[in-house]
Amino acid sequence: DQYCVIMAGGIGSRFWPLSTQKFPKQFQDILGTGRTMIQQTYDRISKIIPNENIFVITNKEYIALSHQQLPEVPLQNIVGEPLMKNTSACNLYMANKIAEVNPDATMIVLPADHLILKEDIFLEKVKIALEIASDNDYLLTLGITPTRPDTGYGYIQFVEKKNSEYYKVKTFTEKPMLELAKTFLESGDFLWNAGIFVWNVKSIRKAFEIFLPEMTQQFIACEYNAESEESCIELIYPKIQKVSIDNGILEKAKNVYVIPADLGWSDLGTWNSIFEHSEKDEHNNSVNIKTALTYDSTGNIIHAKSNKAVVIDGLQDFIIVDTDKVLLICPREHDQQIKDYVLDLKGLK
Ligand code: GDD
Ligand code: MG
Repeated sequence: DQYCVIMAGGIGSRFWPLSTQKFPKQFQDILGTGRTMIQQTYDRISKIIPNENIFVITNKEYIALSHQQLPEVPLQNIVGEPLMKNTSACNLYMANKIAEVNPDATMIVLPADHLILKEDIFLEKVKIALEIASDNDYLLTLGITPTRPDTGYGYIQFVEKKNSEYYKVKTFTEKPMLELAKTFLESGDFLWNAGIFVWNVKSIRKAFEIFLPEMTQQFIACEYNAESEESCIELIYPKIQKVSIDNGILEKAKNVYVIPADLGWSDLGTWNSIFEHSEKDEHNNSVNIKTALTYDSTGNIIHAKSNKAVVIDGLQDFIIVDTDKVLLICPREHDQQIKDYVLDLKGLK
């Protein structure tokens, strides 16, 4: 059988102050389409995976929100984590859960906050990937042709093979430094990791045993624990290593394969990606409200409350976000630093 796991436990800190811990971006209708990012993710995959096989893994704080936005997904399939431990832990947790129901299951793992314009191609590639993963010990990912030396993505170097839908991955480099990203882009034989993974539960659990053995043991301990699963998870989570599946597994595994896919894809992770995909006024400003006046200002992202009048004069390529609690003004080229502003504000750095 085929299963889907939607990962929705991040807080989208590069997209602050619109995305906050209370209300992360995956639960928001960022582009004004009428459906939130997690709803769009569900809408796409529910065309090929039945509701009872769709799982959501998120922070326990967001279980109610997830259920409210995805009433079609059975409530028991919405799984809560007590702490944010990045994407290795949530993947192992879900692979174990699905293996309990069906040890031969094949699964697709989806981030909850991506824009995919070409849904037909997405579904076609996912079907192919699920097919391949059902009878091969492969860890498959979808690969996107890179367009800029973005340091926020994983870079995949593959071994070209004629007339094939998929390629063996030679190297996987998660979030390289800018210089390295530039080299990758220029060389032309790299793809971006879309963060969409397909594998069978046996293969991924085996990979965890090899590369994150301690985490594997921590979860196994819960299987033999007399307490309820939930209280055991509460106990082990504080001790679990915080590491992404990209760093923890994919950079190390030898059986990673990539399916190049032209999806019209964007990780709506930063203000600049929103700028790229939103409508612009005649001066190339992305403005979310009608009551904004701009003079001699171009290339700005202006996001304010609808009841405010906003006047901007003489500003080029800035991010201006005004919410109830926060006013943010910074150059667009600093958008990867927004994460740090949040940490500084909390006094965490
Ligand atoms: N349940 C759960 N728990 N979900 C999480 C957690 C967690 O602790 N941390 C992150 N997530 C969810 C996020 O909500 C998002 O949907 C998804 O997992 C991916 O996490 P991100 O934090 O957005 O990852 P990233 O964008 O920095 O990097 C990943 O995606 C890129 C493409 O968008 C990597 O896979 C990169 O290699 C890839 O290029
Ligand atoms: Mg992301």
